[in-house]
Amino acid sequence: MSKSRSFEINQNLASPNRNITPITTELDHLGRLKVGGCLLSELAEQYGTPLYVLDETTIRRSCEAYRESFRKFYPGESLVLYASKANSSLCISNLVASEGFGIDVVSEGELLTALRSGIPGEKIVLHGNNKSINELELAYKNKATIILDNQHDIDLLRKIIKENDQPAKVMLRFTPGIECHTHEYIRTGHLDSKFGFDPKELIKVFNQLKDVSFANVLGLHAHIGSQIFELTPHIDLADIMTDVLKKGRDIGFPINDLNVGGGLGIKYVSSDDPPSIQDWVKTVAKSISDACSKKNLSLPRLLCEPGRSIIASAGLTLYKIGSRKDIPNGKTYISVDGGMSDNPRPITYQSNYTACLVDRPLAKSDEVVTIAGKHCESGDILLKNVHLPSSSSGDVLSVFATGAYNLSMSSNYNRIPRPASVIVANGESKMMQLRELPEDLLRYDLLPDRFIAKG
Ligand code: LLP
Repeated sequence: MSKSRSFEINQNLASPNRNITPITTELDHLGRLKVGGCLLSELAEQYGTPLYVLDETTIRRSCEAYRESFRKFYPGESLVLYASKANSSLCISNLVASEGFGIDVVSEGELLTALRSGIPGEKIVLHGNNKSINELELAYKNKATIILDNQHDIDLLRKIIKENDQPAKVMLRFTPGIECHTHEYIRTGHLDSKFGFDPKELIKVFNQLKDVSFANVLGLHAHIGSQIFELTPHIDLADIMTDVLKKGRDIGFPINDLNVGGGLGIKYVSSDDPPSIQDWVKTVAKSISDACSKKNLSLPRLLCEPGRSIIASAGLTLYKIGSRKDIPNGKTYISVDGGMSDNPRPITYQSNYTACLVDRPLAKSDEVVTIAGKHCESGDILLKNVHLPSSSSGDVLSVFATGAYNLSMSSNYNRIPRPASVIVANGESKMMQLRELPEDLLRYDLLPDRFIAKG
């Protein structure tokens, strides 16, 4: 039995992605956890569990770190676009826009959310390897930039935009052929990825788009993957992107935007050691400006699309502990009232997380347990081998760094409703998404006539 502490608060205030917990995490006089000035056990009581909690200060600090680092390290113009697939809602879109960010969307749903939150279309870019006509039309009508991923995109745009219409603003996405060490499902820069044009096709694509009236090629895009701890792939990317920039400009395109994607990793467990936002921006900015001066290119506007590193460590999920199963000479399972439907990352990517009891976060651990979800699936395990003080049914457990790709990848597996989301700041909590109810899940069900029992 381990006596090690289950949990520690270590705060890197300048770069939130290097912390497991939100930067406002603190203890009250009784040693209970507070985030954004709110006691986590009180939030669980007030809103119920499972509950997604986001700390506004952490999100704003991450935005500031990106913004200020570009200002400091890149001599040209820059724009940070929040990758809304990480966590998309009216509130978050509005928040990042208030920090001067644009937004990256990948579907009609994300696009509509961004537009309704008040972000001007000019600050939106639309991605996707299989965009629909509706998605393209909505983006075009709102003057968003369309990232052309393949020939199908070009063919659809040609259909939508008539001879005398304004041309669409487009960027070309290509696969840079860079391998990096992350889970194979979230690697996108390698040559056999489903995203983007093959670099060998680019000249053909440039020539095809040379004198068309439906599209203005204003930029280039590449993204190498997600949850990346290395910086060198970004240096390699700068070299590859500036080569393509030169080719495009030589052919006659006035390309001024280089979008290097997202990908900076975050700390989920104590052994994770991601670079800071400042070091990431410095590396990207310096390698692009060095490559441009070497190749005699004027500096482009530099864009990037961080998702996880903006919002993951601002988030946590609160659960209530329920049942317990002690297997003689085996594991101890502690089950919580959520699981793979609100956090599919462990079952999908074998991701690791950190957890603690919110009212005794620093108590010495008495046991090593497996935190299981409540779904009918043996693989529904949120955390393995966690050191926890002994707990009882009804205790509130927090799982940290769940702000990215949890809500956005959540499901209704087993017809379990999605949790509510709240945002906290300065001792105040505000609901940003309502809790689904089981009745909500029946809203789209129909019972065709012939199934309705007669008489
Ligand atoms: N830009 C593009 C084109 C992307 O495909 C992505 C992520 C991003 C930006 C943002 O990357 P980030 O800064 O968040 O690493 N569901 C997976 C992550 C999938 C990432 C997909 N693309 C997960 O839960 O780990």
